[in-house]
Amino acid sequence: MTDNSQPVLERALEALRRPTDRAEMADLLSCDAYRKSSAQRTETLQFPADQRRPEDQPRFELSEASSSPTVTYSDWAAISAVLPDWGRVLYRLAREIGGPVLEIGTGSGLSSAYLAHGLQRAGDETLTTIEPQPQLADIAAERLQAANLDNVLVVQGSQDELAVPLASASRPRLVHVDSDHRAAELLRLLDDLDRTIDDSLICLDDIRWSPGMERVWGHLVATHDTIDFHLWGLAALPPQPQAQPRSYSGLAPRALRGANITGSTDP
Ligand SMILES: C[S@@+](CC[C@H](N)C(=O)[O-])C[C@H]1O[C@@H](n2cnc3c(N)ncnc32)[C@H](O)[C@@H]1O
Repeated sequence: MTDNSQPVLERALEALRRPTDRAEMADLLSCDAYRKSSAQRTETLQFPADQRRPEDQPRFELSEASSSPTVTYSDWAAISAVLPDWGRVLYRLAREIGGPVLEIGTGSGLSSAYLAHGLQRAGDETLTTIEPQPQLADIAAERLQAANLDNVLVVQGSQDELAVPLASASRPRLVHVDSDHRAAELLRLLDDLDRTIDDSLICLDDIRWSPGMERVWGHLVATHDTIDFHLWGLAALPPQPQAQPRSYSGLAPRALRGANITGSTDP
């Protein structure tokens, strides 16, 4: 574990620069197996009608599955589950910074698997993950249990009702946000987290997915110490009046060891 008297972004960088060990390789293989097993699932998922405003429309759709109200689990997981590099960052951060961890947007449970493996290595600390879609919440709970990740609690419900009570009860050291991608809803969630917890790290996925997400990220950069990984961002809580943005110019965090983190806002 990193030294918890240091600022949380310094701890994050130290965690990402550590060399990979055998335990990490074994855990990443388990996460790969979890990702592959999503392709075997045949359930049909139902989603509410799309309520995105123009600024919330994604810059590109990977397939029709991302905007359809009815989709098979395997198709949906293929386009929405966490990318391997971001999964690896989440694993490292959970392992080196420790828990408790709160996740908003369980989805397939793959990002939860990366976090939960990291937390098990950190001493079996807990991950609480929120998912409003009941089928997804049930399937993720079943799959995570089957993967022996019994340090995860999947809570079915929305961030509007659950984020504040769960964050104030558990005081998470890390919060992974990959949920409602609408800017207004995301800004409200981040504001709620700012008011509820401090000395924590927000890990935000998809920061350039839509003009709205980019606006949310711009707000975080202006008000918090942040690190920009181009597709993903880290922001330290509490907010800082003189925020120090940093950017990392590569996409693959595995290359972070020895890489330069610059003080520029320009990724
Ligand atoms: C991109 S997916 C998350 C994928 C996940 N990281 C993974 O690796 O499988 C976004 C998830 O956020 C959930 N979501 C949408 N609105 C939400 C809300 N208001 N509160 C919590 N989660 C929400 C969606 O149902 C969906 O499962």
